[in-house]
This record gives sequence, structure tokens and C-alpha cells, in this order.
Amino acid sequence: MTNILCIGAGYVGGSTMPIVASHCPQHRFVIVDINEARIAAWQSDNLPIYEPGLDEIVRKTRGKNLFFSTEVDKHIAEADIIFVSVNTPTKTFGQGAGKAADLQYWEKTARQILENSTSSKIVVEKSTLPVRTAEAMERILNSNGNGLHFDVLSNPEFLAEGTAVRDMENPDRVLIGGRNTESGQKAVEALVEIYANWVPRERIITANLWSSELSKLVANAFLAQRISSINAISALCEKTEADVSEVAHAIGLDNRIGKYFLRASVGFGGSCFKKDILNLVYLCEQYGLPEVAAYWEQVVTMNEFQEMRFASNMVASMFNTVAGKRIALFGAAFKANTNDTRESPALEVCRALLEERAEIVITDPHAIENARYDLGELAKRVAFEPDPYAAANGAHAIAILTEWTQFTQLDYEKVHAAMVKPAFIFDGRNLLDHRKLYEIGFNVYPIGRPALTHLL
Ligand code: NAD
Ligand code: UGA
Repeated sequence: MTNILCIGAGYVGGSTMPIVASHCPQHRFVIVDINEARIAAWQSDNLPIYEPGLDEIVRKTRGKNLFFSTEVDKHIAEADIIFVSVNTPTKTFGQGAGKAADLQYWEKTARQILENSTSSKIVVEKSTLPVRTAEAMERILNSNGNGLHFDVLSNPEFLAEGTAVRDMENPDRVLIGGRNTESGQKAVEALVEIYANWVPRERIITANLWSSELSKLVANAFLAQRISSINAISALCEKTEADVSEVAHAIGLDNRIGKYFLRASVGFGGSCFKKDILNLVYLCEQYGLPEVAAYWEQVVTMNEFQEMRFASNMVASMFNTVAGKRIALFGAAFKANTNDTRESPALEVCRALLEERAEIVITDPHAIENARYDLGELAKRVAFEPDPYAAANGAHAIAILTEWTQFTQLDYEKVHAAMVKPAFIFDGRNLLDHRKLYEIGFNVYPIGRPALTHLL
């Protein structure tokens, strides 16, 4: 039996480790966090994150070979392998503020591992980190004076929220980076053995440490770049009466381009795309590559443009004023099937409309609590309404900001009847049947398609 510890019980630690534990009944898993409320929630029937299929896996493994705890030091001492999945947000202070990764949680963890270890261990970077972070980790850990040896591996996580269980159960690939030394390669093999319990060997790829660390940032940058590219084209489509979905379909059938991640939208959100691209930009600047930095920064700039363009279109279409008008935002989560609202474009649109003094009501099947939290002081000026019909009641406009299937199943005749006329729908996800909505009487404004409006 191997004692496997995961430090950080957030989205990544909390959704990956139960799945690993379910495939490795021969090993013992502990997930620790300094956040007591979070650990208590993981131990309860009300898990702290909403992720389809996860409840069942946690119920199956918890108390058998999976345990949650706040006793970080004790479990470090007992562990053979330690996954570190603490948060690595964008730095908000000092050098690199607004771009570089804030590594304070990461470094604290390294020191905690050093202080509490009485045996040699494998330490696995699961958090997303700047390239060459493992070097610093190795230096800290191997500065111990008692002959312990630590092998640091990079094993970036590629899961997407909302499909975390599926992504972990059936990953496109698992990437493991290690040192090209005898002990480094032994550590890589030990981690390969764990994944091989359910992942086909050919999908477990190994690389040098730096390639592995960098591949994670690059994967997110490429994914986000596709969204910014199609969103840039959506703006041109709106000017030319081309339809962005038709363009995406036509180009996506070219195998070299591929069909995924070409859905035009109000913008990409989530805790990672922006953070990781800015981290990449910062690294390029630090390594003296300003042109490369500027190239990638444009992906984020385009995303901000798309969010603001959407909000401005709303105001312009509603006769250049939304002051005092009730506007129902359908969706607060940054994508469907998650309760996560971090960097959600929905909240950006909300902020922009509040600036215009609109009266905002937000409805979302799972993310209302997080939206309230993320909006901070502004939440006082927003109404939160779990029932979408009640949210739309008396509204001048609806903005579809998250692609929840629930929103496709509403009776839009009923919704329309309860709204102020002329009634507007701004579909930031191209989720609904626009022709049908138009026939009901709505003025419909999709993304990257001509508007369907009854206005002269
Ligand atoms: P999160 O904020 O949800 O969770 C991080 C957790 O670490 C928190 O609960 C925090 O309390 C805990 N923590 C911080 N310092 C600690 C310490 N010293 N000891 C114990 N616990 C500590 O973050 P997340 O979304 O799970 O992301 C974690 C990392 O994984 C980030 O680097 C992120 O970029 C990366 N990542 C995230 C996703 C995702 O979908 N969210 C996907 C891939 C990679
Ligand atoms: C993303 C990556 O897909 C994961 O591989 C990665 O592990 C993760 O970031 C991370 O490092 O955190 P995630 O942010 O959870 O996962 O979700 P995505 O499905 O990538 O969606 C991100 C955003 O892009 C969402 O706001 C989504 O609505 C938007 N999006 C996605 C579009 O606007 N259009 C698309 O075609 C696809």
C-alpha cells in the first residue's frame, strides 16, 4: 500500500483524487486543506463543488481508502507521494502584479513538506505553474540536512469543469514530467503505475520537467486562442450578415483545424484561461521575448473586447439606455454544469450593466451563491432569483450568459407574456431557437448572426 496525499481540496484536488482512489483500492488517499469549512463540506452530503457524477464516486470511496482532513502536517509525515494542488492565482501585488503567478501558497506548501518529512518522498506538481517552478521546489525540499531525497514531478491537470469526471475517467492523455536521473525516472515510473490502473499505457506520456510544466500553459493558451479567434470573427459576422456558426462549421470540417472550441460566445471565463495566459505573457517578457508576449496577450484583450462588446450592444439595442430597466441575466456560472463563477463573463456583463444603472436580476440553477460572493459589494445592488420565470417577470430584456440546458426548456411564450414590451433577448451563447423566439415576438440578438427584430 502507498500513502498518497493531496494538498488542496479545491476543484482539482477534490475532483481528481476521489477518482484516482476509486481505481486504486490498494492505496490509501488523504486530501487535506487549511480551509476547515471546505473539508467539512467534503465530509458531508453537500459537497463544496457541483460536478456531475462526483457525488457518487466520493460516496463510494470516502471512509474506505479516501479521507479528508485538515491535519496537514500529520499527513505529510505519513505520505509516500504528495500531490500539490493548491491555488496559484494571478499576483495582485509587487513585481509582476496582474500577470505573474502568485506562488506564495505553493512555496508555503513546499516548506511545510520539508518541515514535516521524516522519509524521502515523491512530490507531484498538480497545480498549474510557471515553467521551471520544479527547480525552486527541488531546491527548497532538498535543502534538508537529514539526508532525505525528494523527487519533484510535474503532472499537470487537463480536466475541464463540468466534465471533470469524464475527463479523469477517460483522459486524452496523462502527462508526467520528471528529471532524467535514475531516481527521477523511478519516480516517473511510480506515478505511471498509478495511472495505469485505468488509463491505457499509450495515453500516459512522459517528458522532461520543463516541457511538462510549459505544456500545461500552452494547452490553455491554445484553447483560449481558438475562442478568441472565433469571437473576433463573430464581430465581423455581425457587420456582414455572415453567420458565425456556419463559418465555424465550414472551417471545423478541415481536419487540420478541427471542430472543437469554435463556439462563439460572450467570452471565455473560468479561473484558469486568463490567469494562465497572463502567466505565459509574463514569462515571455521575463525571458526577453516581448513580441511573443504581445502575441499571447492579445487573446485576453480580445476576450475583454467581446464581453464589453456584448454589454454595449445590449445598451445600444435598447435605445441607448438601460437605466432603471430590469434585465434578467440567465446564467452566472462561467459555463454550464458547474457552480463556479470565477472570471465568469456573466459577472463582467453584470458589472457593465450596473454601471449603466440597470436593475439586474440573476438566475442560475447552481451558481447563485458563488455569484453573490464574487460580486462582493455589488451583490447588494443585484436581485438573485432561482426561478427563471420569476427573474424574467417585468424585465425589459433577458441575456443568456451560461449555456444551461434548463434555459432551452422554458416556455418562452409564458416568459414573453410577463415581460415589458418590446421584449429583448440577447443570446450570448447562441443557445436558443432564435427564429422561434422571434415568432413569439422577441427582438433577438445572437452572437455573430444577424439580429431578428420587429423594431423599425
Ligand atoms: P481552488 O482555489 O479551488 O483550490 C485550492 C485549495 O488549496 C483551496 O481550497 C485552498 O484552501 C488550498 N490551500 C492553499 N494553500 C494551502 C496549504 N498551504 N495547505 C493546504 N491547503 C491549501 O483551486 P483549483 O481550481 O483546485 O486549482 C488548483 C490548481 O490547479 C491551480 O494551479 C489551477 O490553475 C490548476 N487547475 C485548475 C483547474 C480547474 O478546472 N479549476 C484545472 C486544471 C488545473
Ligand atoms: C479549461 C481547459 O479546457 C482544461 O483543459 C484545463 O484543465 C482547465 O481550463 C484549467 O486549466 O483550469 P475549463 O475552464 O474548466 O477548462 O472549461 P472550458 O470548457 O475550457 O471552458 C472555458 C471557457 O471557455 C468557458 O467560459 C466556456 O464557456 C468558454 N468556451 C469554451 C467558449 O466560449 N467557446 C467554446 O467553444 C468553448
